[in-house]
Amino acid sequence: MSQVENARVLKNGALIAFPTETVYGLGADAGNEKAVGRIYQVKGRPQDHPLILHIASINEITYWASSVREYALALAREFWPGPMTLIVKRSENAKDFVTGGQDTVGLRVPDHALALELLKECKKIGVHAIAAPSANRFGHVSPTTAAAVREEIGTYLSEQDLILDGGAAQVGLESTIIDCTGDAPQILRPGAITQPMIEKCTGMHINENSVSDIRVSGSLEKHYSPNAQVLLDVQATSGQGFIAPADIATPPGAIRLASPRTTDEFAQILYAALRDGDSQGLTTIAVIQPSGDGIAIAIRDRLMRASKGR
Ligand code: TXA
Ligand code: MG
Repeated sequence: MSQVENARVLKNGALIAFPTETVYGLGADAGNEKAVGRIYQVKGRPQDHPLILHIASINEITYWASSVREYALALAREFWPGPMTLIVKRSENAKDFVTGGQDTVGLRVPDHALALELLKECKKIGVHAIAAPSANRFGHVSPTTAAAVREEIGTYLSEQDLILDGGAAQVGLESTIIDCTGDAPQILRPGAITQPMIEKCTGMHINENSVSDIRVSGSLEKHYSPNAQVLLDVQATSGQGFIAPADIATPPGAIRLASPRTTDEFAQILYAALRDGDSQGLTTIAVIQPSGDGIAIAIRDRLMRASKGR
C-alpha cells in the first residue's frame, strides 16, 4: 500500500508499526484518544508514560509546543531529521493522553524515507503527528526489523492494523532524549546524538549531575531486557550466548551471537543479537561492552538496564 493509503488507515484509528532510523515505532494518530489508548493496550504499558510525537518537519513544533527555547530550535535545525527527541512545553493540542498528564511533550522528526513520507501524507489529511513508542511489549528489547515487531506484538494487533517494512534500522538504539525546558539542555536518555554534539551545537555546557524531575520510562532501571539473563564483561561459559567486538575470540562452547567490527555496528546489531539469543532459548548471554565515548555510552546504558532485567 502507498503512504497515501496508510495515512488514511491511521486517520481511521488503526495502529501502524513503522520503521525509523533508531528502532521501529508503534504509531497512532496523536490527536485520536481511542487510537492512542490502543498503543498502551498492545504494549502492556502503564498509562502515565508519555509518548514521543513523530512529526514531518520542524514546522510542526509550533502546533505541539507552547514555547520553545532558542537552543532547542538550534538542535532541531541541526539534527532533524535524526535520532533526537526534544522535550518541550506542550501546547493545548498535546493532550494528557499522549503526554501522560505532564505539561511537556516529546517531539522528533525521524530520519527514514518511508516514515517521512507517511508523516507528510498524514499532515495533508490533518494528522499532525504520529504518537509512537518503540514497538515492543513494555520492558522488552526494542525491535529493529519488521519481523521483530511481528514477533513482539503481532498477536496483539487487530485486522486493520499494519506493520510496515522499511528494512533493518540504521542506528539500532533509541533516540537521544533531551529535556529542553530548562535554561540549558539536559540529556534524559543517551543515544546517537551525543553530549559533545549537543554542546557544540548549542554552545552550552551540559551539567551531567543535575537531576531532572521529568519521567522517562526508558530510564527505569529494568528495561530493554531480553528473556535471557544478560551478564556484562565476563567470558561466556559453554552453552551461553556471547556478544563481543570482532577482535575478541569466542570462548570454548559459547554461542556467538554477534561480532561487531565497529561501535556503530555494535549499536546496529545489539538488539537483534539479544533477540537471537532468546529465540535459541539461551538462558544467559554474556556481553563484552564497547569502550569509549560516542554511541558506546548509549550502548552501555541500555546493556546496564538489560542486565537488571530479571
Ligand atoms: O528512537 C526512539 O525514540 C523510538 C522511535 C520509535 O522514535 N521511540 C522510543 O519511544 O524509544 P519509547 O516510548 O519506547 O521511549 C520514549 C521515552 C519514554 O521513556 C518516555 O517516557 C519518554 O521518551 N518521553 C516521551 N515524552 C516525554 C515527555 N514529555 N517527558 C519526558 N519523557 C518523555
Ligand atoms: Mg521503548
